[in-house]
Amino acid sequence: MSALAQVRRIIADLKHPADWNRIPRLPVLVRQEVVALVRPIPSQLNGEADGDARLMAEWRNLHKRSFFTWITAAELSTASWLDQNYSPNDEDILFIVETPARVPFGHFALYNFRAAADVCEFGRVIRGRSIGPKGGMTVAAACLLQWAASRLGVRRFFLEVFQDNANAVAFYKRLGFVVAKRVPLRRVDDPDCTRWEKIPEDEADAGNVHGYAFRMEATAEQLHSIGCRHGDTSLFDFVC
Ligand SMILES: CC(C)(COP(=O)(O)OP(=O)(O)OC[C@H]1O[C@@H](n2cnc3c(N)ncnc32)[C@H](O)[C@@H]1OP(=O)(O)O)[C@@H](O)C(=O)NCCC(=O)NCCS
Repeated sequence: MSALAQVRRIIADLKHPADWNRIPRLPVLVRQEVVALVRPIPSQLNGEADGDARLMAEWRNLHKRSFFTWITAAELSTASWLDQNYSPNDEDILFIVETPARVPFGHFALYNFRAAADVCEFGRVIRGRSIGPKGGMTVAAACLLQWAASRLGVRRFFLEVFQDNANAVAFYKRLGFVVAKRVPLRRVDDPDCTRWEKIPEDEADAGNVHGYAFRMEATAEQLHSIGCRHGDTSLFDFVC
């Protein structure tokens, strides 16, 4: 089986749980104590995932300007995107971050797996609620990235973030990401939303550059071990 086929199989298993009321979770451990849980958003919003589209829309609207497309999200349009784009795609997996009592407070995703499946994007990162432990997003993301490195075989993670999004840039640096390059952006105001488009470097000049993004990258070896210990892969499993 190719590496990409293997990644697709693991993601498909997580997105199609046998029991919608017992979706497997990745326990996030700090000094042997579970401080958070990471639960996949499955292919259908049944059982425990019933409220996911509502939460995603609510949280996206809280942080509209942190992303490169400034849409106003609604539960219905989010559910429709999940159904039509996310559900059938076994190279895209979103995770809800929960307190140990299973109260959701954020999400993030792995997607854009490249050719040999050893490179992928880490993104759609949001803390939606100020509950959960301080640093909870950092430890949960560190644990998920370690899982992706050890179980999916990802060797390098990449992402793009507005240069002036200080909280997010600090968050990614805590995880071990470093700035690989600065990407010029053009602001496009469409009637229904504002988009920020990348400009090829040789076309960028003072007249058409309206902002910058950082492309940040981390190899599996560069990931910071926060809470979870490197090398002890038995810690990185989804369990019911
Ligand atoms: C990016 C984002 C998810 C980070 O969330 P966060 O709540 O800042 O992250 P954490 O849960 O890790 O908490 C961070 C705080 O805990 C602290 N912390 C982090 N790791 C810690 C640890 N292991 N132990 C103790 N404290 C820790 C940090 O220093 C930080 O403290 P501060 O707020 O006083 O500086 C959040 O800022 C967000 O949702 N932003 C809007 C959306 C966005 O920009 N997304 C990215 C688009 S590319």
